[in-house]
Amino acid sequence: MHHMNKSAKQRTLSIVKPDGVEKGVIGEVIRRFEKEGIRVVAMKMLHLGKKQAEGFYAVHRERPFFSSLTDFMSSGPIVVMVLEGDDVIARNRKIMGATDPAKADKGTIRADFAGSIEQNIVHGSDAPETAATEIHYFFSDLNIVS
Ligand code: CMP
Repeated sequence: MHHMNKSAKQRTLSIVKPDGVEKGVIGEVIRRFEKEGIRVVAMKMLHLGKKQAEGFYAVHRERPFFSSLTDFMSSGPIVVMVLEGDDVIARNRKIMGATDPAKADKGTIRADFAGSIEQNIVHGSDAPETAATEIHYFFSDLNIVS
């Protein structure tokens, strides 16, 4: 009999972007995760260079907003975190709200704090494969607690 995978424990990468750090909502973002029972299992603050931002968002390199996005992401410090919990990839996306804050549900991080579709406070991985890639862009397994 195979295992029911619906609420399996997952990990995802979360980023508080430069606008979130500037607006002073690092703690508020983390509070919203912890309130839902999501655990932070790795965390650090860093200031990406342009090349590092381009590497992180490489899948978007053909998009018209790539240059502006990577300028923004390298414009100030960010906080990167690994989150862990049941179905945490989808739950994190729900807590963040839609990419475009104008379309984000009331009470989500982006509806409450984001200024634009680009400067939208937080990033969250969108699938298990991208979560694994994105986590390892910033953290070695040795730097993630279990
Ligand atoms: P994120 O979830 O980090 O994934 C890609 C990022 O690109 C997104 O959040 C936004 O910051 C940015 N982005 C997505 N769509 C647009 C757009 N149409 N114009 C500008 N920036 C965008």
